[in-house]
Amino acid sequence: MTGQVRGVQLARLLGQWHALPGRRRSPDYAALAGTVRGLLADGRLPLGVRLPAERELAEALRISRTTVTAAYRQLRETGHLASRRGAGSWTMLPGNHRVASTGLWTPLDDREMLDLGVAALAAPPQLLTAARAATEDLPRYLGGAGYHPTGIIELREAVADAYAARGLPTSADQIMVTSGTQHALDLVLRLALAPGGSVLVESPTYPNALAALAGRRARITTHGLAADGWEPDLLLGSLRQTRPKLAYLIPEFQNPTGHLMPASLRERVVAAAHAVGTDLVIDESFVDLPLDGTELPPPVGVYDRHSRVISIGGMSKPYWGGLRIGWVRASAPQVQRLAAVRVGVDMASPVLDQLVAVHLLADADAIVAERRVQLAVQRDALLGALAQRLPDWRVTVPRGGVTLWAELDGPVSSALARAAEEVGVRLAPGPRFGLDGTMERFLRLPFTLPAADLVEAVGRIAAVRYDLDRTGRQRWREPAVIA
Ligand SMILES: Cc1ncc(COP(=O)(O)O)c(C=O)c1O
Repeated sequence: MTGQVRGVQLARLLGQWHALPGRRRSPDYAALAGTVRGLLADGRLPLGVRLPAERELAEALRISRTTVTAAYRQLRETGHLASRRGAGSWTMLPGNHRVASTGLWTPLDDREMLDLGVAALAAPPQLLTAARAATEDLPRYLGGAGYHPTGIIELREAVADAYAARGLPTSADQIMVTSGTQHALDLVLRLALAPGGSVLVESPTYPNALAALAGRRARITTHGLAADGWEPDLLLGSLRQTRPKLAYLIPEFQNPTGHLMPASLRERVVAAAHAVGTDLVIDESFVDLPLDGTELPPPVGVYDRHSRVISIGGMSKPYWGGLRIGWVRASAPQVQRLAAVRVGVDMASPVLDQLVAVHLLADADAIVAERRVQLAVQRDALLGALAQRLPDWRVTVPRGGVTLWAELDGPVSSALARAAEEVGVRLAPGPRFGLDGTMERFLRLPFTLPAADLVEAVGRIAAVRYDLDRTGRQRWREPAVIA
């Protein structure tokens, strides 16, 4: 959505604005203005877009024009709207906040904040040892120019070996090292998707994947996940009917829901994709993190006989996001084409960081085993705190990954996130994981913080949840990036 938002579009985004918590005591125009501020805060209503004329919005919402006039006036007063007579009104933020072009904001580093917006662990203790060992290795590379567009060979071999160990024979020339999984996705989209191309994604899905797709102006269709995961007939039916150029799926411990796609569906999805000419981009970010001894189905690539599957993954979830190491697994010719795209973007990943990754992967079994134990303990602490403090919320116990997807006791996710900021908890509200302003009944909760912090965070969330109906308008807070 750029330039202008029409009355019906804004009405859809506004959703249940007249029935939101805290609403009872405020007049209609204030509730409307408050909901528009909420949409701006969530990044669902971009900055710098022209809002519909007052009469158009009044018609779309079936309310009086004076209500819209008063709401726009309040938005101007709070610094969320700029108007020019005869030309219209544009969205903005108070105090000249700067915003990335994706609509996501850069987070302030706030050490006091319990950050449940980011689903990633702190670094493992082995990282320092690996970094020291990497500096010892560096001299082997210093005699060369240091540009390796597909990655240094020893890391590509280590990643290829890990695929082979999961039952998918892979050679080093099928691997390209990237600066994180997000970078891998961006490069694959540049190669495989013309601007405006059609893409199928799960709903809910990972918000930064949606941001990458927005960067390609993708036309997106969604497969809605049910409470227990993918609905095979609907997913295969969507592929056959919409015949998208590409489908982006997260089969292992899907972000945000935590679902694991069964082997039978993997096989059928690959066959259907091939039949309709769809490329599958399979995000394996969480594949190393099954919990409770959960057995993993074979990688999606196992069922691929026609180079339809491009897998992406990385070090961020099992090891550390700050490492910025990810990869693509594709056919060798596709890797060469990706490398050609990549030199127009960032040339290559840092050699030193790749060497750190090599050392971490050499110790993968021990490190990942510890991570799984840690995550299971933290997940159980989070579940226990939720059962105690927010017993009306419904959660499915995830068998892996780092997040759970809670169904709340009302459509309050965005309001709750704003209220939680006030008490030092950053949340990623449900609508950030969808496209159309739905999912207000859901909240993603990662279990990546220490157990004590999770319990504390749930306590604070529970306190503001029960205050929500009584509080008035929330103060404006700068929204933050979700990862
Ligand atoms: C599904 C998914 N893909 C990609 C990423 C980004 O990973 P990276 O830090 O490797 O770029 C994340 C991080 O949260 C994720 O959950």
